[in-house]
Amino acid sequence: MDVEGFAGALVNSVGPEGVPDDPESLVHRICEDIRGMSTPSALTVLRAAVAAMEPGELYLEVGSYRGRSLVGALAESDKCGVAVENFSEFPESASEASAELAASLIRWKVDSRVTVLDGDAFELLPRVHLPAPVGVYFYDGVHSGWAQYAALGIAERLLADRAVVIIDDATWPQVAQATDSYLARHSGYQLIADYRALSQDDPVWCNGLRVYAWRRPASWSPSIGRDVAWRAHAQRRIDSPLRSAAWSLLSDHPRSFNAVRTLVTRGATQVTEQHD
Ligand SMILES: C[S@@+](CC[C@H](N)C(=O)[O-])C[C@H]1O[C@@H](n2cnc3c(N)ncnc32)[C@H](O)[C@@H]1O
Repeated sequence: MDVEGFAGALVNSVGPEGVPDDPESLVHRICEDIRGMSTPSALTVLRAAVAAMEPGELYLEVGSYRGRSLVGALAESDKCGVAVENFSEFPESASEASAELAASLIRWKVDSRVTVLDGDAFELLPRVHLPAPVGVYFYDGVHSGWAQYAALGIAERLLADRAVVIIDDATWPQVAQATDSYLARHSGYQLIADYRALSQDDPVWCNGLRVYAWRRPASWSPSIGRDVAWRAHAQRRIDSPLRSAAWSLLSDHPRSFNAVRTLVTRGATQVTEQHD
């Protein structure tokens, strides 16, 4: 991964105010076409990162929903990606959701370059074997504190020696705290950019985006530490089943879907006002 090239491209192309509102641009057209959460500015960051990957490196994404970020990262390029999605946050059935994601990939001609792993990231990532190192890792799965911390730890063994790690919804307090807590115990990360949301679902940065450069430390070990393992376990055994139960309740009460969805996916947290 050409981390320096990417950091330079970012400074030139994406400021804190995001990208210009241009309905004709690729990122705007993707956002118009695919329902989802990532903004045109976030897709521009993902695209710049993917463009700086070395030949053969992979883009890895956790949490693809209907494919907006996955397509945004990879459309009109020759780069390949792997996505992990368990279809747990869709109002429709998992098979309908999976079909909608697949249709997005086909419409934007990225299907032949993407492998979608259907399952729980906290179960799959610790044991998956990928055919190439990951140059860019984008985490946009479930955003509990346990998940957020473990998401960093379970992906490290898959990263290239130099890589970029992008955390979505990073202005949410539990995401920021879990990320900071992980980084306090694990070296190799350097913050490149912190795009802060000024309000909940901010049109420019949605709920914020942090971008880190990763360099594998000399003392790095491939085994997953206990701090990561127990959180991944707690996420799978406690948090995820509770969320699934909440989602099935939602499907029986579609009119409360949006309100409860906000509680389930965001843990009822608010974006803190940060205007500096
Ligand atoms: C915020 S959405 C992703 C939005 C997407 N990146 C976009 O740009 O539109 C989060 C997604 O993560 C998925 N997800 C939640 N928990 C997961 C887990 N443990 N493993 C894999 N995917 C998960 C949900 O099904 C949901 O589609």
